[in-house]
Amino acid sequence: MNNDEANSQFKNLQNELIKFLNNRAEAFPAQAEPINTIINELNSASLPDFLPEPLRLPGCRHLPAALEMAQGGPMSELANVFAAFEPCMRWIRTEHYREKLGDEYMDNYCYTNVLGYDALISHDRVIATFFIIGSGRHYPRHHHEAEEIYFPFGGDTLWSQDDKPATLRPAAEPIHNTPWLPHEITTQTTPLFTFCVWISPGPIQLAQLVE
Ligand SMILES: [Fe+2]
Repeated sequence: MNNDEANSQFKNLQNELIKFLNNRAEAFPAQAEPINTIINELNSASLPDFLPEPLRLPGCRHLPAALEMAQGGPMSELANVFAAFEPCMRWIRTEHYREKLGDEYMDNYCYTNVLGYDALISHDRVIATFFIIGSGRHYPRHHHEAEEIYFPFGGDTLWSQDDKPATLRPAAEPIHNTPWLPHEITTQTTPLFTFCVWISPGPIQLAQLVE
């Protein structure tokens, strides 16, 4: 993709993210404050002159199934603009998980930060990311200082917060993890594909597994 094309596809993604988040802030007033923080950051975001080197990881093989699922759901417009820009994105993993979660888990998950660390647009306090986990995986109990909201694109993922039983969550509705609230994710038959934001009170600290 040449620079002009990348800029125009990014603009579409940026506009769609802002439109989606504005709509969610209105529909879910309890989450409006953190959502509005991300909207403000997205509004002022612009692509750097030199984009980070695109990178795909083994977990990206779940992307076609994830996108197909998303394109049949309420966040299809966001899925479409993301798919168009995705060849420019850099997929990453939280590498310190490898020791405890193993190579197989690491090869079945990844995420790509629009805003944040190792991101398209660097930011040290907020993250806006697209996250994938293949079917039949368990992302065990973990926590972090940052406040977090997931907006799943669809699927039969089970979500758990604190010690509450895991439940299915509707596509496009927020799953809000307050700072340090332990949470876990179990995928069943579909991959997990979700948009996710973090708002950190200080420089971003990576998530840690809770023993
Ligand atoms: Fe989290």
